[in-house]
Amino acid sequence: MTAPAATVSAERDETFLRRAFRLAMTGRGRVEPNPMVGCVLVRDGRIIGEGYHTHWGGPHAEPTALADCAARGEGPAGATAYVTLEPCCHTNKKTPPCAPRLIAAKVVRVVIGCLDPNPAVNGNGVAMLRAAGIRVDGPVLEAEAKQLISPFLKSQGSGRPYVTMKWAETADGKVAGPGGRRMQISNPAASRLVHQLRARSDGIVVGIGTVLADDPLLTARGVEAARPLRRFVLDTHLRSPPDSQLVRTARTVPLVVSASPAARNDPARAGRVAELRAAGVKFLDDDDGVDGRINLREFLGSLIGDVYHLLAEPGPTLARSLFPWADRLWVFRSPRRADDDTAPAAAPIPAGYAETGRLDVEGDTLTEYLNRSGEAFHTTVPSADFVLATEDRMTE
Ligand SMILES: NC(=O)c1ccc[n+]([C@@H]2O[C@H](COP(=O)([O-])OP(=O)(O)OC[C@H]3O[C@@H](n4cnc5c(N)ncnc54)[C@H](OP(=O)(O)O)[C@@H]3O)[C@@H](O)[C@H]2O)c1
Ligand SMILES: [Zn+2]
Repeated sequence: MTAPAATVSAERDETFLRRAFRLAMTGRGRVEPNPMVGCVLVRDGRIIGEGYHTHWGGPHAEPTALADCAARGEGPAGATAYVTLEPCCHTNKKTPPCAPRLIAAKVVRVVIGCLDPNPAVNGNGVAMLRAAGIRVDGPVLEAEAKQLISPFLKSQGSGRPYVTMKWAETADGKVAGPGGRRMQISNPAASRLVHQLRARSDGIVVGIGTVLADDPLLTARGVEAARPLRRFVLDTHLRSPPDSQLVRTARTVPLVVSASPAARNDPARAGRVAELRAAGVKFLDDDDGVDGRINLREFLGSLIGDVYHLLAEPGPTLARSLFPWADRLWVFRSPRRADDDTAPAAAPIPAGYAETGRLDVEGDTLTEYLNRSGEAFHTTVPSADFVLATEDRMTE
């Protein structure tokens, strides 16, 4: 049986697929470690239903769009389904597969953004739809579709989390006040965006330099917490102070210290280890890495299972060693100045980082960069978090 011809226009396909990208982003922070997925149903050039994957274990984008279609009193027969990711066809998971749902709904055409890298799907979803006589087009806007789910693709492919680095700097390029003492650089609106980003991450990592200088708490405050958060400190020589805010809150928000075996097994530090353990601090097994510091490849590789999206809030030292490993960078630039030679300067951003967006945040500027040489890079479009931050600013 041949499906009735649906009117095809490349420009219209891209418009509806972009709508599906934006819908997908609404699930950010709740669907992980699943990918964000959106679906738009169109008949006669009109949207008759749309949906996105709202949370991990919840219904997929396609059945949500079909339900929306029914709620609008529309029928999906003869429609085109725009889906950011290939519809699934495997049954060994929480929800029933989507390709058979689209077939049963009698859609005549499916346009996909990219194939599902999951080996259980990867082209099989498309094949199932085609075998049922449905026309499947795509990948359309493939690089953007992959960029949308790059944290998912990265964690599946490399076994390491997607890494975002963020810092704030003054107009004269400093990240702290005189002598490295803490200085309030960001304005409240910029800080709010940071707390939102923390709330959507699974983990935050800092270097011990920042713990000693700033005594940070590293929790998501004043925003809805979308995900459980773990905090990590890279502390080769076990200098984490037992009376720091991080350690004092270790029983309520998990704190993991990564220290070298030499420090953990040093009899002179046995008291410190016991004190930290008693406070609820967990230790990560790490070998001494480059220059006797924590090996970042091992550290990042140990996180998968718990952490798919890691936010690093580094000082200049950790920033320098994280550049090759990070995927995205958010720099908040303030009009304030430090005007002091002893204030530490921000690490220079390597040329491989491409700017993807710039946002005015009540006088501070947020600039997003993506690491072109990183494993998660597909194209220079703003990330979902940047798009959401931009909309958040527009509605303030
Ligand atoms: N403006 C901002 O957004 C912002 C953010 C954070 C910090 N800061 C400022 O930055 C300053 C602290 O920065 P910092 O550069 O001294 O320290 P840092 O980057 O916070 O921490 C660096 C330390 O982490 C430990 N480390 C362990 N493994 C590492 C690895 N693989 N690579 C790099 N470091 C590793 C090292 O100490 P061990 O060898 O002892 O383990 C290293 O000295 C403070 O003045 C703070 O106020 C500003
Ligand atoms: Zn599905």
